[in-house]
Amino acid sequence: MPSPTDKARFAVFLRSERAMGLRAIPLPMRSVAAARRATAVVRPAGAAPMRSMGAGHPAAPPRPMTPPPRVAAPAMRPPAPRIAEMPMPPMPPLELQMTRKPLPTIDFSQPFDAPLLSTEQKRLHLAQLDQQKIKACTLCGLSPTRTNTVLGEGDVDARLLFIGEAPGETEDQTGRPFVGKAGQLLEKMIAGMGLNREQVYICNIIKCRPPGNRAPAPEEVVACTPYLLDQVQTIRPQVIVTLGLPATHFMLQTREAMGRLRGVWRTWRGIRLMPTYHPSYVLRSYTPDVRAAVWSDLQKVMVELGLPLPKRSAAAS
Ligand code: URA
Repeated sequence: MPSPTDKARFAVFLRSERAMGLRAIPLPMRSVAAARRATAVVRPAGAAPMRSMGAGHPAAPPRPMTPPPRVAAPAMRPPAPRIAEMPMPPMPPLELQMTRKPLPTIDFSQPFDAPLLSTEQKRLHLAQLDQQKIKACTLCGLSPTRTNTVLGEGDVDARLLFIGEAPGETEDQTGRPFVGKAGQLLEKMIAGMGLNREQVYICNIIKCRPPGNRAPAPEEVVACTPYLLDQVQTIRPQVIVTLGLPATHFMLQTREAMGRLRGVWRTWRGIRLMPTYHPSYVLRSYTPDVRAAVWSDLQKVMVELGLPLPKRSAAAS
């Protein structure tokens, strides 16, 4: 006989199964066999054969002379995880998913016509953009969950600008772009070009961390990218490298796959733009092909900037 505790646990288990919409509880085949054995009538040796009670009636079992041996009850399965505990991929909030409609395309064909600023004017302008607008921004649903906004950093006169996707956890904690694992790889990529991160400028298309590091929602990109466009107009680099799909899609206003976009020069508002894979993608898909693709894209940038190629690459190109 199951104890009262066992019965209570089994009742809780049944309730949780029903809550998930299960009516019949599937048992693994081994449990089915064990359950059949447990409920089978054990007939002692020498007992009379079962008598039939007529058509349609099963034969009534004769009373055994000795009590049947105890058979262990089938083991209970541990309760299924609650739906709330199941791992879910990070998704934009429901209201953003429901209001999703095609976004207007932005025309980035015309070169900037605003005058080029001096180094001091650039620093001042970016500091004001950060203090007065970005840090105070509540234009999208990311502001309540951010710890810090992340403007970007580097040389305001840099010839090379890297644009990533969005701050991750470490960036949100520190207020600096690309300082986590992806940032370490980006620094290696920059070092491979013979530069360091102080000689380039690094920023993202959006300035606040999306919860769970999900991709930015289109509405968040629309709300935030005027800050990026102001930054690019201020810095006015010679070459832009977009890192990964969201940055490349926004800058080129396209939905094409990264495999087709990367490695091909574009012109963006009169600036040369090279799309390449995001360092996080390289870390996830650390294959010789992916690394070679990124290195080939960066070498094209080095040639454009007149940076010396390493001897082996120069011979190979
Ligand atoms: N850190 C950033 O700042 N941007 C990214 O896109 C990823 C990590």
